[in-house]
Amino acid sequence: MPNLDATTRPLTVAGLFAGIGGVELGLQAAGMQTKLLCEWWEPAQAVLEHRFPDTPLHDDIQTLKALPDVDVVTAGFPCTDLSQAGRTAGIHGEASGLVKHLFELLEDASPRWVVIENVRNMLVLDRGTAMEYLVSEFERLGYTWAYRLVDSRFTGVPQRRQRVIFVASRTEDPRAVLFADDADERPDADYRDDAYGFYWTEGNTGLGWAQDALPTLKGGSGLGIPSPPAFWIRDAEPGRAILTPRIEDAEALQGFPRGWTEPALQKARPGVRWKLVGNAVTVGVSQWVGQRLLHPGQYDETGQLILPKGMRWPTAAWGDADERWAVSVSLWPERRKYQHLLDVVDAEKAAPLSLRATTGFHGRLLKSRLRYPQAFSDALKLHAERMLEPVPVP
Ligand SMILES: C[S@@+](CC[C@H](N)C(=O)[O-])C[C@H]1O[C@@H](n2cnc3c(N)ncnc32)[C@H](O)[C@@H]1O
Repeated sequence: MPNLDATTRPLTVAGLFAGIGGVELGLQAAGMQTKLLCEWWEPAQAVLEHRFPDTPLHDDIQTLKALPDVDVVTAGFPCTDLSQAGRTAGIHGEASGLVKHLFELLEDASPRWVVIENVRNMLVLDRGTAMEYLVSEFERLGYTWAYRLVDSRFTGVPQRRQRVIFVASRTEDPRAVLFADDADERPDADYRDDAYGFYWTEGNTGLGWAQDALPTLKGGSGLGIPSPPAFWIRDAEPGRAILTPRIEDAEALQGFPRGWTEPALQKARPGVRWKLVGNAVTVGVSQWVGQRLLHPGQYDETGQLILPKGMRWPTAAWGDADERWAVSVSLWPERRKYQHLLDVVDAEKAAPLSLRATTGFHGRLLKSRLRYPQAFSDALKLHAERMLEPVPVP
């Protein structure tokens, strides 16, 4: 069906669970207009008020009586009960259970599109119950749905981040949005060999190891702020080789302008900005979705396989009340020009990883059965020795 409105007026958006507006910023970059934001947490509200000053902001989805008449409803509902970093109470957990309010609001609304983003874990949690709930609710309301797991690196940012993008509609074809593009994984040649990201809080069973990228920036559970990852610069001088990114680097790694979450400082301590950024949707991801909502592409049905109820959820699928299909597409809709890690993080301003963090991580690493380059272990040792040295008095 041709998307006539795209040529006559911008599509309008209501952003529920808006966080710091990663979805809405990307949709606006694609040419849409945000008509309503709904966000409950004060530091996030402070960012939204500052960055979307002309958009009405409602505080709690539980008291939102009705949706405005918009083309697109977005709902990156809380993932604290779904993510591995958070608790795992599941889709009916206190935070993630809020998604039921989305369905109550949709009962009396007719948006052309609904867009949801969530963590990869949603596909496997409770043996797929979370996804079954989402999908069944949309089917009950007469929607066709489609979802696809994507890696934020497809947008060019050096952050390995896998997220489920879910699109549903009663009148349009979500497959033409999510499955029209497939570029396949980046070749190794796209990545440089000069810097590696890792989680220094790990080291027993995993490293979060990422070449020329940082591993997923995490929002963390409601219980605490997770520590940001660190990165190793292979050829840096001792003391400058194991560093931690600054919050502005994290914002850029999520596709936001640097300083985007600064307004949160009016309401919370600085560490909270990490949680806001870790919770957000990578802006380039929602921009890609927005462009495809405005200009749906072609969907090729060859290769799709029937998906019986109760099967494991694949990395991409679509369905409606009648049937469900698994779709064979990569996590890489596009391969936009890659920004190398050291071109995004400001290595000169980045702080060295503390002595305590370095020795703790290195100790775990040595005891583990993990595989890592010897040069990385040597760099950690040298870094710890350097951090032990007294700072010279000028
Ligand atoms: C996963 S985050 C969404 C992030 C967002 N998509 C972004 O790009 O920043 C979920 C958000 O839902 C918000 N939230 C939780 N309970 C809410 C409620 N009752 N009403 C509105 N928002 C709520 C949280 O504060 C959090 O910012």
